Amino acid sequence: MNSLPAKVKIVEVGPRDGLQNEAQAVPAEVKTDLVDRLSRAGFANIEAASFVSPKWVPQMATSAAVMEAIARRPGTIYSALTPNMQGFAAALAAGADEVVIFGSASEAFSQKNINCSIAESIARFEGVAVAAKEHGLRLRGSISCAFGCPYQGAVPLDAVADVVRRLRALGCDEIDIADTIGVATPRQTQAVMARAAAEFDLARIAGHFHDTYGQALANIYASLEVGVAIFHASVAGLGGCPYAKGATGNVASEDVLYLMRGLGIETGVDLDLVAETGQFISHYLGRKSASRAGNALAAKRA
Ligand code: HMG
Ligand code: MG
Repeated sequence: MNSLPAKVKIVEVGPRDGLQNEAQAVPAEVKTDLVDRLSRAGFANIEAASFVSPKWVPQMATSAAVMEAIARRPGTIYSALTPNMQGFAAALAAGADEVVIFGSASEAFSQKNINCSIAESIARFEGVAVAAKEHGLRLRGSISCAFGCPYQGAVPLDAVADVVRRLRALGCDEIDIADTIGVATPRQTQAVMARAAAEFDLARIAGHFHDTYGQALANIYASLEVGVAIFHASVAGLGGCPYAKGATGNVASEDVLYLMRGLGIETGVDLDLVAETGQFISHYLGRKSASRAGNALAAKRA
C-alpha cells in the first residue's frame, strides 16, 4: 500500500465557491462572520472573495466589503478569484494575499463561464500573473472540468495536461485540478492527478472536488494515495457553480477533516469549530447542512 502524506493543506472555499451560487443575497456581515469563524478554526488558506462581473455573479458583489471587514489571522492566506486585470486591481486594493486565475480544460465550459476560449483566457491571465508577481502576491491557477464537462462531456487527459503546462508557464504557485460537476471516480482521479503531476510539482497540485455524485471523499482518498496533499473543501458542503447547472457543492470541509483525523493526517484545523460554523451558516441559509460529519457531530452535541 502506498504511504499517505503525513500532513495536508485544506483550502476552505465555502465563502466563495460555497456562497457564489446562493440565489438570495447574503449580506457582507454574514460572510465576514463566516470567514472569521473559519479563520479561528485554523484554516491556513481561505477563499474569501471573487472579483468577477457582478452581472455574472451578483452574490460576489460584496467581495471588497468582506475583505475589508474580516479579522485576518496571521499566517492565513486569503484568496480571491481574478478573471482579468479589472479583477486583479480590485483584489490588490482589497488586500488579497493570493489571486486565482481560473480557466478550464473544456472549451465549451470556458466560453460559458468566462466568455472566452481557453487560449484567450490564458492571454488574459498573463497580465494578472505578471502583476501578481510584481506585487508579491501568490498566484494560483484553477482548471475547471478536468474530469468532465457539463457541455462537452468527456475531457481528454491531454487537454488537462495542456492547461497545466500553460498555467505553469505563467508562474502559478499552485494549480487546482477541479471536478466542477462532481463526476469523477477514484481510478480516473488517479490518472488525471498522475498526468498533472507529470507537468507540475505534485506538492503544489490541489484537488478540488464537488460532490454531485457522492464520490468526492473517495476521490480525495484516491488522490492521497498518489501523493496529492492539498484539497479544497467547503464548510457544510455549500456551493455549486452558476455556470454548471445541477452541480452541487464542494465536498464538505467537516467530512474531509473527519477523514483526515481518522487517517492520522495533520491538517491544523479544529474540526469541532468547523462543525459549529457549518451549523451556523446552514441555520442562516435556512436548510440542513450537507455535511454528514457536521450533522453527526451536531447531533452528538445536542
Ligand atoms: P465579459 O462580459 O466578456 O467581460 O465577461 P468584458 O471585459 O467585456 O466586460 C463586460 C462588463 O463586465 C463591463 O461592465 C466590465 O466592467 C465588467 P459594463 O461596461 O458592461 O458595465 N467586468 C467586471 N466587473 C467587475 N469585476 C471584473 C470585471 N470584468 C469585467 N473582474 C468575465 C468576462 C470574466 C468578467 C465574466 O465572464 C465573469 O465575470 N465571469 C465570472 C464567472 C464566475 O465567476 N464563475 C464562477 C467562478 S469559477 C468556479 O466556480 C469554478 C471553480 O470553483 C473550480 C471548479 O469547480 O471548476 C474555481
Ligand atoms: Mg468549484
